[in-house]
Amino acid sequence: MPKAVVVRATGGPDVLEFTDVEAKSPGAGELLVDVAAAGVNFIDCYHREGRYPLPTPFGLGLEGSGRVSAVGSDVTGFAVGDRVAWSQSLGSYAEQAVVRAGDAVPVPDGVDDDTAAALLLQGLTAHYLVASTYPVQKGDTVLVHAAAGGVGLLLVQLAKARGARVIGTVSTEAKEALAREAGADEVIRYDLTDFAPEVRRLTDGVGVAAVYDGVGATTFDGSLASLKPRGVLALFGASSGAVPPVDPQRLNQAGSVYLTRPSLGAHVATREELEWRAGELFAAIADGSLTVRIGGRYPLAEARRAHEDLEGRRTTGKLLLVP
Ligand SMILES: NC(=O)c1ccc[n+]([C@@H]2O[C@H](COP(=O)([O-])OP(=O)(O)OC[C@H]3O[C@@H](n4cnc5c(N)ncnc54)[C@H](OP(=O)(O)O)[C@@H]3O)[C@@H](O)[C@H]2O)c1
Repeated sequence: MPKAVVVRATGGPDVLEFTDVEAKSPGAGELLVDVAAAGVNFIDCYHREGRYPLPTPFGLGLEGSGRVSAVGSDVTGFAVGDRVAWSQSLGSYAEQAVVRAGDAVPVPDGVDDDTAAALLLQGLTAHYLVASTYPVQKGDTVLVHAAAGGVGLLLVQLAKARGARVIGTVSTEAKEALAREAGADEVIRYDLTDFAPEVRRLTDGVGVAAVYDGVGATTFDGSLASLKPRGVLALFGASSGAVPPVDPQRLNQAGSVYLTRPSLGAHVATREELEWRAGELFAAIADGSLTVRIGGRYPLAEARRAHEDLEGRRTTGKLLLVP
């Protein structure tokens, strides 16, 4: 029997159970994949703890890469043996995963399995944030929180590629070095310094065109205070906890600013959009203009340790689980 990581009751990392599961077969429109690597994402913690509720029991994980071992009916464009990656398929922390063909993208030659598993969820997120949520223009200054994290390192690189000046925030010296290596022009240690006044200082009092904030509770107020008039606060996550309800009047006081809470699903809703974003990411990997840092590789059986490290703020870049 294949093995997978299952959640029977929601809770802390200790609820993750590495166990035998029924062998699967693909239904209509589905692929069965031998998983080469599964991506770990913060949303997996929200699913595990029940913050984003799912009916239990469920197989955890949304993202991975691997080789197609069987193809269901009504599937076109994929065949047994193809290398694929995906980012929206529950049950990906597994030796075998069933993936909707509509969610899978072919992995180009020259992109290895680890990179493919590491790229999509956080890469597609960084892509829609800089290309669609607030389309970064040459000469903009933008603020990226947790700039040495999985999404953060990709955001820094993609915003720089569009011509921005990037200010990053991080909590350790080692993370500062990584954010600078990824291209951040300025890095603020937000564990030591009140970042909003520092952003004002670095922008001659003007503020930034956009804040990309995946940290949430602890950064939200400072993010609002860092914007220039009519700037955009893209609140895309809550790694430090959820932001309490916001009085819209605060957006007026902050200078007619915009607040949005975007999700990846709404930005890869059509096949065309998924292929556009994934295509640009794979092309950037292939030409060397984008790098994915794999900061941790854990055996699938040690998903619990990966979650403890991620939530404990001990990680950088992408974490992978390897069957
Ligand atoms: N909306 C979407 O479409 C979407 C898609 C993907 C991810 N996300 C969100 O993006 C965020 C980043 O995801 P990721 O997978 O790339 O994770 P990550 O950024 O690699 O890890 C989280 C980082 O957040 C920072 N952080 C600050 N306060 C924290 C706290 N109290 N506990 C834990 N971490 C804290 C830490 O960096 P420092 O130590 O430098 O502070 C930590 O390394 C998450 O909120 C996630 O939910 C949203």
